[in-house]
Amino acid sequence: MGHVDGEIALRVMTMPRDTNHSGTVFGGVIMSYIDQAAYVHVRTLGLHRWVTVMVEKIEFVAPVHVGELVTLRTRTAATGRSSVSVQVSVDAERYSTGEVVRVTHATVKMVALDSDRRAIPFASPATLRPDEGLGL
Ligand SMILES: CC(C)(COP(=O)(O)OP(=O)(O)OC[C@H]1O[C@@H](n2cnc3c(N)ncnc32)[C@H](O)[C@@H]1OP(=O)(O)O)[C@@H](O)C(=O)NCCC(=O)NCCS
Repeated sequence: MGHVDGEIALRVMTMPRDTNHSGTVFGGVIMSYIDQAAYVHVRTLGLHRWVTVMVEKIEFVAPVHVGELVTLRTRTAATGRSSVSVQVSVDAERYSTGEVVRVTHATVKMVALDSDRRAIPFASPATLRPDEGLGL
């Protein structure tokens, strides 16, 4: 679907708590992993607060089941001043066969913010304060 595989950002094992009432993994769980994978990707591009501003497209093409190993790969699709669009591909390794299946893909737009939550060039020097993010 026009997606080129990128670097592995995240690998997770699906658990019984992740399923919906019909026994497959709830789409919202996968969406949360996609959001995290996009963050893992942009974090390497600048030490800032990063927020998700838009999910351009998310497509679920095959189900994910409990006990499968899910791999999320990311690559930069486009950059702006403060924003980076990240393509995220999601593959599931089928539990009994080991077959790897592309289950989902999405494009997530992330924006770099400074400590005052203003959008800043993402390539700026680090803007995190020493105590930021520690719940202090
Ligand atoms: C992201 C946010 C700071 C942008 O604020 P803003 O006043 O529009 O800032 P700017 O106009 O400077 O835009 C910043 C960047 O966001 C992009 N952007 C803003 N709104 C957008 C939208 N609706 N769709 C796509 N991109 C958008 C702009 O194109 C710009 O990109 P660029 O710098 O690469 O050109 C603001 O919308 C926000 O705080 N949103 C909530 C984010 C959040 O909390 N996400 C977590 C989910 S709860």
